[in-house]
Amino acid sequence: MADTIVIFGASGDLTSRKLVPALFRLFVKGRWPEGSRIVGVSRSEFKHEEWRDSLRTMTEKFGGEHFTAEAWDKFAENIFYQAGDIKNQDDFKALAEFLKTVESDASAGRVYYLSTMPQLYEEAIQQLGKAGLADDTNGYRRVIIEKPFGTDLATAQALNCSIHSVFREDQIYRIDHYLGKETVQNIFALRFANSIFEPIWNRNYVDHVQITVAEEVVIGRRAGYYDTSGILRDMFQNHLLQLMMITAMEPPARYDAALVRDEKVKVLHSVRKMLGSDFANNTMRGQYEGYLREEGVPKNSQTETFAVLKLYCDNWRWKGVPFFLRSGKGMSCRTTQIVVQFKNVPHILFGEKTRTPVGNRLVIQVQPAEGIQLHFETKVPDSEMKTRTSTMDFSFQQAGGAELPDAYQRLLLDAMNGDASLFARSDEVELAWGIIDPIIAAWKSPAAPSLFPYPTGLWGPSEATPWMAEQHREWFDVCPVLR
Ligand code: BG6
Repeated sequence: MADTIVIFGASGDLTSRKLVPALFRLFVKGRWPEGSRIVGVSRSEFKHEEWRDSLRTMTEKFGGEHFTAEAWDKFAENIFYQAGDIKNQDDFKALAEFLKTVESDASAGRVYYLSTMPQLYEEAIQQLGKAGLADDTNGYRRVIIEKPFGTDLATAQALNCSIHSVFREDQIYRIDHYLGKETVQNIFALRFANSIFEPIWNRNYVDHVQITVAEEVVIGRRAGYYDTSGILRDMFQNHLLQLMMITAMEPPARYDAALVRDEKVKVLHSVRKMLGSDFANNTMRGQYEGYLREEGVPKNSQTETFAVLKLYCDNWRWKGVPFFLRSGKGMSCRTTQIVVQFKNVPHILFGEKTRTPVGNRLVIQVQPAEGIQLHFETKVPDSEMKTRTSTMDFSFQQAGGAELPDAYQRLLLDAMNGDASLFARSDEVELAWGIIDPIIAAWKSPAAPSLFPYPTGLWGPSEATPWMAEQHREWFDVCPVLR
């Protein structure tokens, strides 16, 4: 069945760097529903040919090793462009007419991808409604919305409310590209397709969990967005909490969008609310040196580019187990990892009595050098009974098979197929804001914890090390080895 993806924000970066290359890869792999179309919409005036040409250059660059002129020419036959302004109702009427001319089948399904400025989401949705473009009597109508989904709980609720006046929840796909990452989906497989991990995946065996998303890059030219956002809104409300939900959730009865998301939402319900001194004791924030010199950043900005949150899930599985969520820009390397640190043995028989065995940990290396490492104690050969930490190492790349697909590839196909398992539901987004909002408010209050400066190229502020030592734990600060 040939369907249509309508991309609003067609002239933007995301469209040419991520969305169209991802759709092209699906085409090359034979997964793009035959005859399906891409219709780009933005204010600039382009002829179809001009837009195709600009996409071709970017797809050649970002489309992976499978780019061939022949495949592109075939794919590009179904790429169209329609100029339109989200603020102009007539442009939506014209779009509706245009879609009818390119869709050979009146029952074609449609995905509307909002890759515009977030301030335009509401208006775009309302215009789609008014132009009859949300009516799914003849074929499905779905809308994909990029982050940020609101800037706090109140704006997220208002946005949900506005979207629900036009689309039903089952038509709405709120994208978090972390859920499209192959290694994030592999956490489901690791936990629920094996019997060896789940019995120990709980408070009886797990000491704590560290979830780190470190980025070497700094904010670049994104000051306008970033300075009003900060890392809590940019990374924690979405990506880090998503990683935590998948690590902490109960197994769903089936791998099904409603059931998976029910279980994820229960994790957010269980997150202990911070009160009073918790904000100072259980959070840390930092700003990389040089941030204030970035173009567009106010000289007195207090925006954080590094943060740590210590969260607890008050439920039967996790009661008392801290989840340390950490993210920063300008860090020592790019790495996203989830470290499940198991408890020490109850009684140490070998080695120096003072050496605490820290060996038992499972490291899920989300990116780069995607893989999983299990660290455990082994005997040092040719020694008395001394132990050292050894590693069993699984690498996706070395295990062979297909190259790891880009996150958007999977998510766009899922949206076309109507599978919302890897998209955020309205309650999930609102609960996540409910966790983040009080921390943002506390960080603005007179009792806010210090904003520690840190030089780029390290693991954040030096204060993070003694802070973790006070928790009787240490950070797993290891850059992945690229193979
Ligand atoms: C985005 C943030 O959502 O995720 C960026 O807005 C961040 O600030 C990016 O750099 C990180 O994504 P990835 O896939 O490169 O880890």
